Amino acid sequence: MSKVFYRSPVKTYPVISHGRGVFLWDTEGREYLDGSSGALVVNIGHGRTEVAEAMAEQASRVAFAHTARFTSEAQERLGELIARRLEPERYFTYLVSGGGEATETAIKLARQYHLERGKTSKFKVMARWASYHGNTLGALGASGHLARRRPYAPLLADQAFVHFEGAIPHQADSSCLCLEHLEARIQQENPDTVSALILEVVGGSALSGFVPHPGYLKGVEQLCRRYDILFIVDEVMTGMGRTGAWWAHRAEDVRPDMMTLAKGLASGYSPLGAVVAHETVWDAIRQGSGSFAHGFTFSGNPVSAAAGVKVMEIMESEDLLRRGQEQGRVLAQELERLKEQSPLIEGVRGRGLMQGLVLKSVPGRAGAVAQQLGDDAFQHGLIIYPGSGSSHTTEGDHVLVAPPLTVSRDEMTELCERLAASLSRVQERLSL
Ligand SMILES: Cc1ncc(COP(=O)(O)O)c(C=O)c1O
Repeated sequence: MSKVFYRSPVKTYPVISHGRGVFLWDTEGREYLDGSSGALVVNIGHGRTEVAEAMAEQASRVAFAHTARFTSEAQERLGELIARRLEPERYFTYLVSGGGEATETAIKLARQYHLERGKTSKFKVMARWASYHGNTLGALGASGHLARRRPYAPLLADQAFVHFEGAIPHQADSSCLCLEHLEARIQQENPDTVSALILEVVGGSALSGFVPHPGYLKGVEQLCRRYDILFIVDEVMTGMGRTGAWWAHRAEDVRPDMMTLAKGLASGYSPLGAVVAHETVWDAIRQGSGSFAHGFTFSGNPVSAAAGVKVMEIMESEDLLRRGQEQGRVLAQELERLKEQSPLIEGVRGRGLMQGLVLKSVPGRAGAVAQQLGDDAFQHGLIIYPGSGSSHTTEGDHVLVAPPLTVSRDEMTELCERLAASLSRVQERLSL
């Protein structure tokens, strides 16, 4: 009997053998088309030996040197590569091991920023309902996702996290009163107590592919400036080319105070996340106490940083942003076509290769349709990413379809055929 504490002890998991491009194979020889890049992670595709070589080269020279004592060439280079893609503003990168750690780090950095400026009453973090920023207790406290929060509610620091209604999926235009509501919420909380606001630029697992109406992001940024609140964009899912740009927030003319990254940053080749902080934040610490009171043993790990550097180089040399944009348009069209055929699909939304399907739900069984679709697809050789919930409720079924940016036209066709077959099987089974 296995001694592994699985995600679900009542499930049996196939054993992964290897991957190449958009495909994975298990040890029984079964093939899977990875239609969600894992959990929107493997942006450059599976089996890239160049990344493995870069990591091996770093590990064989030196695998670990504590960041309290050393920096590394890999960390310096990655900071440089990220900063260059955020010019003309100046940004500084703090490396961690994943998205949850990045959220925790950003929340703490915001608090220290205000302390350095003598604004000691500012500590609260605002976040939208229907959001996900990670599963550690601070990040989960920020996350507006009921199903994930519910079992741990007594452990979440309610006084520190304030949730608000974001742009509304059913009313995705500027007539939405969400910015007025947000401002009222800030005033109600007392702006002198609010430290930061964190927001996913395009909805992730809590709101698959939802894109707020144009101007929303800018409006949120302006409110943050007005009330001296740091604006954190969570680009853990949307960053690194997933939406057709290096960073999704660049589609609007905003300048966040911080951006969190993970997932695609090392494309799954090593655990890696980052907080990318604007120089105003950096300067506050540099000119203030001179030290960020934070740190993880594996912050800035050289092997993970080397993976990140190679991933960024590959993205550049293979022009993956452009490929992602092109294939994203194809995917959106194909999904719209599927919507015409399948009564299970109520809507298609997304940007680039981050497309979400809004699904019909079974009343009282939140998430069941998305889960069944995900499971059926998996049994038939397709991986997609089911999600559930919406503002203030666990109701709402949706899935993300987000293959690696390297996906070819033929592979996209194959993906959509496998998805269409799953949709019909699930619809027949549920008689929806
Ligand atoms: C938008 C967003 N932020 C943060 C996280 C947490 O990242 P991690 O699972 O690496 O801790 C996720 C994970 O799905 C995410 O989608």
